[in-house]
Formats: sequence, C-alpha cells, structure tokens
Amino acid sequence: MNHFLDIHQTAPTNLRFMIDQARRMKDARDGKPKGAPDETQPLAGRMVALIFEKPSTRTRVSFDVGVRQMGGQTMILSGKEMQLGHGESIADTARVLSRYVDLIMLRTFEEATLHEMAEHATVPVINGLTDTSHPCQIMADVLTYEQHRGSVAGRKFVWSGDGNNVCTSWLHAAGQFGFDLTFTGPETLDPNPKAVEFARSKGSKVTITRDPLAAARGADAIVTDTWVSMHDPESARERRHNQLRGYQVNGAMMAQGKPDALFMHCLPAHRNEEASSEVMDGPQSVIFDESENRLHAQKAILRWCLGV
Ligand code: CP
Repeated sequence: MNHFLDIHQTAPTNLRFMIDQARRMKDARDGKPKGAPDETQPLAGRMVALIFEKPSTRTRVSFDVGVRQMGGQTMILSGKEMQLGHGESIADTARVLSRYVDLIMLRTFEEATLHEMAEHATVPVINGLTDTSHPCQIMADVLTYEQHRGSVAGRKFVWSGDGNNVCTSWLHAAGQFGFDLTFTGPETLDPNPKAVEFARSKGSKVTITRDPLAAARGADAIVTDTWVSMHDPESARERRHNQLRGYQVNGAMMAQGKPDALFMHCLPAHRNEEASSEVMDGPQSVIFDESENRLHAQKAILRWCLGV
C-alpha cells in the first residue's frame, strides 16, 4: 500500500513512473468521449472517498471522473457534514472509512491532519491539498511541461508572487525531477525554507530575488498563483495586493523569458491580479492543459497507490 502525501516523500523513480503512465493513459483516451471507460478497468470494484474540507472545482471533478473512467466508484464527502467536523477524531475517522472504501483522498487545512489520516488508515491516502503543499497539482504540471517542451530536467522555472503551498510542491519537484527554481516576491512571502533546503540538498539551484524582471531572464517557464490562498485570512487581501502588485506576470515579464517559455498557473486565477489576461490567454499559456492533466496525473497516482 502506497500513500501519496508529498512529492519529496515519494521516490523519484516512482514519480517518473507515474508521469510516464499518466502520459500513456492520456494518449490512449485520445478522441474518446469523457465518459467512455478506459480499455483496462484497473479500479473495477474499488470505492474511493473524496473528502473536502475546503472548496474545489478541479480536484473534485478530475478525481471523480478519473476514478469512473477506470471503472471505480466515488463518494464525495464534505468535512463539515461528516462527524469529523463535529468532534470525531481523525484517527477514528480513518479507521472507520478504511472499513468501507479502498482509498481516501483528503483536501484539508493542516498538514498534520493528512498525516494522522494516513497513519491510522489501512487504505492509501492521497493529499488533495493542505495549507502546506499541493503535490497532485505539480504532478499534473510536470506532465504538462513535458508534453509541450520535453524533460523538465535542467530547466529554469520561475515562481512569481507568494511562496505558498503550491510553490512548496514546485520546490519539492525541483529536487526530485532535477530542475532549477527562481523565486521572486517580497521577503515576507518567501517560500518555505525547508522546501528550499530540500531542493538544494538534491542539487537544484534555488535563487531568491526581489527583482521580477531579473528573475524571469532566461526562464523556461514562469509560474504564479493567487495572491491570497484559501487558508489566508480575508483581512490579508489589501496588504497582499500592495505587496505583490509588482510581481504580476504580464507581457513585460514573459518577454524576459526564453522565446518558447511557458506560462503556468494551477487555477483558479484572479485575472489581471497575479497574471494579466493577455498572458493567461496568450500563446505561451498552458493553464487549461494543466487543469486537464490533473485528470491524467491523478489516474496514475491512484493506480500507483493501489498497485493496479
Ligand atoms: N488547482 C486546484 O487545486 O483547483 P481546485 O481548488 O478547483 O481543486
């Protein structure tokens, strides 16, 4: 049984296996209606619980569709409506759910909640986002980059804005897949130092600079995310906007990257805040491919977790 909790906790050979399998599975679906079953049905007879303690569009729909395409069934649970949201312990919830379902995907707040679920579940647990990381997203993003431009190894990725949970998973991926990452943003929103240390310990060059145009120079891809994350207080909004205005990914910033640099964003986006609509809808943008690839990457993650 394999949990998929974080990219830095998963061996590079396993990560590569999942990316390559995702690509094969995506190719095999070419031209099929979305609801058509995959040729092989590796999840036949399997039940998957999808638990959300935070809002979601992409994660919810892509996991649900992916499980169904592979012949399995899903149940989507809201944390608030479960006893989990009314005092039942995470450990007891994990033990109970493990008697009913074959796999648990959890989107939650604290990283500790995810780890407690995994510790007490007797079925695999997948991290569907915590305040600390978002590994499924970055697996989809690696798949997306590689489909457009080939191997991520040795490339220069630039993260502009808030060093948030998505940025942390990019840093984990830099270490595991062997690319470099330049962060540009205000000092108060610097990336997680442990994630920076992890990437550097694996040989990745991690650069931190306050100058967005210098950061973008020679980039293979420029990546950003919303300025206010789901776990940030609403009161932070105005201050964040003032701090981050200079880090918007726009035409001037993209012009500093390589001519074939990609623009990436996990979505949802606040248009003309962290990125201009011109860039989001421009020829270098692959944002909707990233969303689609959540489906394919997660199907490979599900199979790896279940060993099927
Ligand atoms: N990128 C992402 O995780 O999207 P959702 O919040 O819509 O699931």
